[in-house]
Amino acid sequence: MTRFTFLVAGLLACGAAWAAPQDLLQSLAVQARQENTRFQSFSASRGEQLYHAKQLHSSGKTLSCASCHTDSPKALGRHAKTGKEILPLAPAANHERFADSAKAEKWFKRNCQDVLERACTAQEKGDFLSYLLSIK
Ligand code: HEC
Repeated sequence: MTRFTFLVAGLLACGAAWAAPQDLLQSLAVQARQENTRFQSFSASRGEQLYHAKQLHSSGKTLSCASCHTDSPKALGRHAKTGKEILPLAPAANHERFADSAKAEKWFKRNCQDVLERACTAQEKGDFLSYLLSIK
């Protein structure tokens, strides 16, 4: 195979597993409609509130999404417990974000549980993603 064929095959393979954040947003809208028949749309400003909202934990600590992802989703984050670096969450600053919906769902699950001590609703996830997508 030529190098070109490899390149094309590689791009095709990526295309199958990697989608755009907008695809995830669309499937969240379908879920949100199933959770709530009166669902209308996602709101970037509600997502921004969720991002910054400080939640008092049962352990006595306060935690928000910004605790690890910093006040700016375009900035390099740092894990509040382990100190490990976290790449920016906003797709404008990190084009790999929300390209893999399984990965996104896995972290939504873990982080919503950590911060809110419950799962996020599809509405909340869609609001959150709309906020991140509104950042240029
Ligand atoms: C205790 C630290 C911590 C907190 C608090 C936190 N996160 Fe995260 N988050 C991480 C880590 C670690 C990753 C995975 C590493 C990476 O993808 O760079 C991550 C990744 C994510 C991803 C994956 C995005 C993708 O598709 O690549 C989403 C979505 C996410 N977080 C949402 C949230 C939301 C929503 C909140 C607040 C409710 C939140 N996070 C709070 C540490 C945190």
